[in-house]
Amino acid sequence: MTAIIHSEKFLILDYGSQYTQIIARRVRESGSYCEIHPWSMEDAAIRAFAPMGIILSGGHRSVYDAGAPDLNPVILSLGVPVLGICYGMHLLARSNGGQVQPSSKREYGGSAVRPAVGDARFSAFLTDWLASGRQVWMSHGDHVSAIPEGFAVSAVSEGGLVAAMESLSRPVFGVQFHPEVDHTERGAELVDRFVRGVCGASGLWTSTGFIDYEIAAIRAKVGNDHVVLGLSGGVDSAVTAALAHRALGEQLTCVFVDNGLLRLHEGDQVMATLARHMGVKVIAVQAQERFLGRLAGVTDPEQKRRVIGHMFIEVFEEEAKRIPGVRWLAQGTIYPDVIESAGGKTGVATNIKSHHNVGGLPERMGLKLLEPLRELFKDEVRRVGLELGLPREMVFRHPFPGPGLGVRILGEVKKEFADVLRQADHIYIEELHQSGHYDKIAQAFAVFLPVKSVGVMGDGRTYEYVVALRAVATRDYMTADWYPMPFDLLKKISNRIINEVAGINRVTYDITSKPPGTIEWE
Ligand code: XMP
Repeated sequence: MTAIIHSEKFLILDYGSQYTQIIARRVRESGSYCEIHPWSMEDAAIRAFAPMGIILSGGHRSVYDAGAPDLNPVILSLGVPVLGICYGMHLLARSNGGQVQPSSKREYGGSAVRPAVGDARFSAFLTDWLASGRQVWMSHGDHVSAIPEGFAVSAVSEGGLVAAMESLSRPVFGVQFHPEVDHTERGAELVDRFVRGVCGASGLWTSTGFIDYEIAAIRAKVGNDHVVLGLSGGVDSAVTAALAHRALGEQLTCVFVDNGLLRLHEGDQVMATLARHMGVKVIAVQAQERFLGRLAGVTDPEQKRRVIGHMFIEVFEEEAKRIPGVRWLAQGTIYPDVIESAGGKTGVATNIKSHHNVGGLPERMGLKLLEPLRELFKDEVRRVGLELGLPREMVFRHPFPGPGLGVRILGEVKKEFADVLRQADHIYIEELHQSGHYDKIAQAFAVFLPVKSVGVMGDGRTYEYVVALRAVATRDYMTADWYPMPFDLLKKISNRIINEVAGINRVTYDITSKPPGTIEWE
């Protein structure tokens, strides 16, 4: 099975669409391994990749623009199935002698497509899926105005334009709409039909297959060397630790730095799960005072991030130096991080803030990098984590930023603020779990506002701090909507926080989307 995992590979060429990552997710969901590469990928690299099928992404350019990304002829010469989406279809049309034109009536957003009747078909892939018609998502101003010779129109849009086409002699297809996005009715099924139906992939890219493959790969790479890993309490580093431990046992040492900015009981949970329960060697470093000492008087958000990042490197390096024979640093880098840092090269959209909290560490310490999750998306990381025996609460925990509560206490970070915030946040999260909302929310947390307001409790007047509650729904964390929390739940959380957390007498709910807000408050 391990041989199949990496022999059945799909190549996604990125022409700059905002949806390219989603295409990759859909291919993975249908059980096949795939990679995203820039449209300008070299001929030799394309051949060496030996894809089982190729998907050309969409893109915002017009194929006739000067300098617009082109179709490399090698792609069609390989003889493997090719699916062009939107801009990808325009490229297929033009390079085979067809024509593309700007539409007078632009088709953006939801639209209906129906099968084109009367043409001979090379494959039932598109037509079976189309049935009598589907709701799809369109997002481009151009359309194919003349299909190439040897091609047939398989679907037309409401406006009578070409919505899909296919070659009559080769497995080459184009769709004007975006099957990868949720707005296209049964779009994932169309991608699956291409991957498994047209290309014949066996769908064996599973967590079990991945774990077996990766354990062998880690052992072959590391040999008898020693590996160090920084645990953060988050999913990615925990899954990396569990996987590396399975492969290396005693050759792995994890370092968990308590910086005083963790969530309530987070340190205890990490130690209980990984160290006591799974037998991973973990050194817990109590560095709360060092971090908080260095943060005294620092109020600028980016400066706080820098201080916390530098401190982490300092503490981690001290500990790592004491481990004999360390040659490797294991990190929980995942596929979206890889795509993000390659942003400039692939044309994939990049994030606004860069989140490299420990950048430069391997070079400084002269360590080689081990990144066993580099090829996985978050949902795949979670499945691998569960399969390795990590508890559900840890695997499905909302993301937590590297600087932790440091960016959730506005302005200067103080221990008493962190203690108050931890309690309020714990109550909030506990109520979200109990009411069944936690898993519907991408990220929820409390924020400490260092301003005092007047309140009344019993017979007395109070003058205390404010806590804001944040909850967002998002898939990619680049844009996010505030979560429509039920009023009765907000009421319960607010009552509990004010009654149970000394020092807080006012609770607010954040109703800002991203953009214009960010998810974190700093
Ligand atoms: P923003 O606040 O930029 O957050 O909308 C998007 C996502 O990134 C997380 N985040 C960080 N993660 N170091 C990290 O490791 C950071 O400095 C950092 N800042 C924000 C944030 O929690 C959200 O998931």
